Amino acid sequence: MTGTLTILGLESSCDDTAAAIVRQTETGAPEILANIVHGQTDLHAPFGGVVPEIAARAHAEKLDFCVEEALAASDLSLQDIDAIAVTAGPGLIGGVLSGVMCAKGLATGLGLPLVGVNHLAGHALTPRLTDQAAFPYLMLLVSGGHCQFLIAQGPDNFTRLGGTIDDAPGEAFDKTARLLGLPQPGGPAVQKQAQTGDAKRFRFPRPLLDRPGCDMSFSGLKTALLRTRDAVIAEKGGLTHQDRADLCAGFQAAVVDVLAEKTRRALDQYLAISPSQPLLAVAGGVAANTAIRARLETVCADNGTIFTAPPLALCTDNAAMIAYAGLERFRAGAQDDMTLAARPRWPLDKTAPALLGGGKKGAKA
Ligand code: KG4
Ligand code: ZN
Repeated sequence: MTGTLTILGLESSCDDTAAAIVRQTETGAPEILANIVHGQTDLHAPFGGVVPEIAARAHAEKLDFCVEEALAASDLSLQDIDAIAVTAGPGLIGGVLSGVMCAKGLATGLGLPLVGVNHLAGHALTPRLTDQAAFPYLMLLVSGGHCQFLIAQGPDNFTRLGGTIDDAPGEAFDKTARLLGLPQPGGPAVQKQAQTGDAKRFRFPRPLLDRPGCDMSFSGLKTALLRTRDAVIAEKGGLTHQDRADLCAGFQAAVVDVLAEKTRRALDQYLAISPSQPLLAVAGGVAANTAIRARLETVCADNGTIFTAPPLALCTDNAAMIAYAGLERFRAGAQDDMTLAARPRWPLDKTAPALLGGGKKGAKA
C-alpha cells in the first residue's frame, strides 16, 4: 500500500483499554497523532491481580470512548482513517475478543480494511516507531505478561532466542510486593524499597544461570522470597522497614543478574548472525526499572552494542504500537477479513518450541 497511511489501532489484551492513531507518509517517520490509554488498575486492585471477566467487560465498555477520544485528540474523523488495526492476541481472551469485535464493527460500518496485529509484534516493532530502527535488531520484551528475546527481521519475521518458562519478571515484582505488603503495581514499589536496602543481606537464587541458552525462570524467586520473609518473621516476630528494603534489594539484584547474563548470551548469539547491526532494544513495563536498565546498558557497552529503550508510555501496553504494527503489515499488503480470530496464544516465532506457563496476565506467547 503506497502513499500516506492513517491507521486507527485498538488494544485490549490485558488490563489497559487503548486507542491510538498513527500516520506515516510513504518515506517519512511515523507520527503518533493520538495515544489514549485507560488503565484498569483500580478495578482489579481489590482482587490482587487482573480478573479476566472484569477486564473484558471494562474493555467492551471503554473501547468506543477511547476511539472517540483518539479522534478528538488528533482532530480527525473516522473518514480520515485508512485502516483499523487491532490486537488479535496473545492475551486474556475476553479482552482480545472485545477489541476484535469492536474493530470488526468499525471496519464493516466504515468499509475499511481490517488488520489483526500480534500484541508482541506491537512491542517488538516499537523501536521502529520511536527510533526508525532498521531491521534486524535484538529485542528484549520484559513486562508483567511477557519476557523473551527476539531477533526482529521484518514486520512478520521474528526469531525467538529464549524466554521465561514460567512467570514474567513483572509478575515476580508484583508478587514480591504483595508478599511484603507493598502497593500494586509492585515494580515501582519494590524498586523504591530496594534503593535503601542491602542487596547482600539475603542471597536469592539466580534460576537457570547454570543452564546454557537464554531461557529464564522467575517463579522460584518468589517462593524463595516467601521462605526468607517467613524466616525473618519467625525470628523477630515481624518485618522492620529495613528488613523489607533488604528483601527488595536482594530480590531485585537476583532479577538484574539473571536478565543481564541472559542478555549477554542473547547478544552473543545475535551478534554472531548480525555483527553489522549491533542494537538491543527493550520494551515492557519492567524496562522502567533503573537498576535493570543500568545493567543492560553496561552489558551492551561491553559488547559494542547500542542500547535503546522507548519512552515509558510506549514501553508499556498502548495502542500506538498496535496502530504502527498494523501500518507495517498493511503497507506490506497484509489484510484480514471477518474471519479474524481472537487468539489467547500466538507465538511470534512459529518455529520456536512453546514456552510453558499461562501467567496471571495471560499467555506468554
Ligand atoms: O508492560 P506493562 O505495562 O504491562 C504488561 O504487563 O503487559 O508492564 C507492567 C509490569 C508490572 O508487573 C509492573 O510491576 C512492572 O511492569 N513495572 C516494573 C517497574 N515499573 C513497572 N517492574 C520493575 N521495576 C519498575 N520500575
Ligand atoms: Zn504487553
